[in-house]
Amino acid sequence: MNKSRHKFKEPDLVNILAIESSCDDTSAAVIQNGKILSNIIASQSVHEKYGGVVPELASRAHQQNIVPVVHQALSEANITKTMLSGVAFTQGPGLLGSLLVGTSFAKSLAYALDIPLLAVDHMQAHILAHFIDDPKPTFPFLCLTVSGGHTQIVKVNNYLDMEILGETQDDAVGEAFDKCAKLMGLPYPGGPYVDQLAHSGDPKKYAFPMTHMPDLQYSFSGIKTAFLNFLKNNERKDPDFIEKNKADIAASIQNTLIEMLLQKLLKASQKTNIREIAIAGGVSANSELRDKLEEESVKNDWTVYLPKLAYCTDNAAMIAMTAHYLLLEGKKASLRTDPDARLHFMGH
Ligand code: KG4
Ligand code: ZN
Repeated sequence: MNKSRHKFKEPDLVNILAIESSCDDTSAAVIQNGKILSNIIASQSVHEKYGGVVPELASRAHQQNIVPVVHQALSEANITKTMLSGVAFTQGPGLLGSLLVGTSFAKSLAYALDIPLLAVDHMQAHILAHFIDDPKPTFPFLCLTVSGGHTQIVKVNNYLDMEILGETQDDAVGEAFDKCAKLMGLPYPGGPYVDQLAHSGDPKKYAFPMTHMPDLQYSFSGIKTAFLNFLKNNERKDPDFIEKNKADIAASIQNTLIEMLLQKLLKASQKTNIREIAIAGGVSANSELRDKLEEESVKNDWTVYLPKLAYCTDNAAMIAMTAHYLLLEGKKASLRTDPDARLHFMGH
């Protein structure tokens, strides 16, 4: 006999299925009363040869992945659809075609099961990933949110109450990592490759001009151009320049990017007098950023929160965690909710 047939929704068990499809990872997770039971991620390798995410290929791959990924998330959590209390999806920001796949899937499921639909902001979710495991930050805290599409310093007053204190006026830091990596001939996304190479390089070998911005604003487009000119000038003298100095180049550009991030974070902490400091988003996986934050925590009496590596890059567990708080506050979405494709720059 199929034992799952006997599973009914118990009133005290709140199970939410969450779907993330904003860029090039199809992910589904199940959360039960605030505890993550499963988190499945299917990454798309199809983009590697193009050096960036190709939106049309991303949405096609999401369509292929979504059913098996959701199936696996439910079965790993030992949950059937009838036991669900809500369905969550990433509303945006992200690539429109990619978001649509998750949005329509979640909407149809919520409609068919007649359960609440929960629309989650991707960047808010990156921050709330800190509430998946202990230790959890205490409010208010500052979060440096750094991904392929965003660079923001956020003051987090409560789970769903956040203020952006400063952000990039052009490229995101993840984009700067990826573009510099691409210029060095590294695969996409290049951030992790730069991180890896930098381990054996000298971070002070080459100096790059930092763009100085007012207040808590960032700008990363200038450094990308400076990096391109630096490579061209050196390659003119020695065509093998990159190959011979890969590790030092990676370490030096990484050091500059991290330094730019930290300067403003320090300023934000001084300005707000907040010493609870977190990082979130794909670039929070960077080992130099993590090490430097630990150093700063000693110097500035900060309590630092570094997300687990699995929760740095895109995943549905963070969407599920946010949905948990949305449901608690009764913030349900309408079945008419559209995806929100606010600016989200990818590898191109
Ligand atoms: O949050 P995420 O998975 O997707 C977006 O919402 O953009 O972030 C992806 C970004 C990419 O730019 C990737 O290169 C960067 O995070 N990234 C890293 C590292 N791991 C991922 N950048 C630097 N060092 C890393 N270890
Ligand atoms: Zn992200």
